[in-house]
Amino acid sequence: MADLKKIAIASDHGAFELKELLVSKLQELGYEPDDMGVNSEESADYPDYGEKVAKAVSAGEVERGILLCGTGIGMSITANKFPNVRAALVHDHFTATMSKKHNNANILVMGARILDVETAYEILKAWLDTEYEGGRHDRRLEKISNLEKSGALKNNV
Ligand code: RB5
Repeated sequence: MADLKKIAIASDHGAFELKELLVSKLQELGYEPDDMGVNSEESADYPDYGEKVAKAVSAGEVERGILLCGTGIGMSITANKFPNVRAALVHDHFTATMSKKHNNANILVMGARILDVETAYEILKAWLDTEYEGGRHDRRLEKISNLEKSGALKNNV
């Protein structure tokens, strides 16, 4: 199992400032963020940075990742293309805790143009501290995993 303290994180230009704040917050909380960019507010394409984090999670190099863009929508669409990735776009404490309890989300996605910084910190903390409940949810996650394996989604059947 990958080191639980290590968390991959990336954003596009629309969330650069929030990403920098979350990197510091993660360090403060004792985590080891692996910052995969961007490194400035210069315009960047979110799929390029979503791919970096999603690949690391998909390959099991890290257990968890965080992706940020303006709305969070582009990053969540990108990340969920990768096998074994369960990326959750969340907006508040409730959706953050549910994304772990029921969906065992391994990538947290937020929209920097939607959330204030305090809410983003609250979401981050809730997602990090909440445990997956397992039980009946295992069956549902397994069904998602089977869809990936069967290629059904790719072939539209
Ligand atoms: C960039 O302008 C913006 O489209 C991006 O940050 C994100 O919101 C996409 O879903």
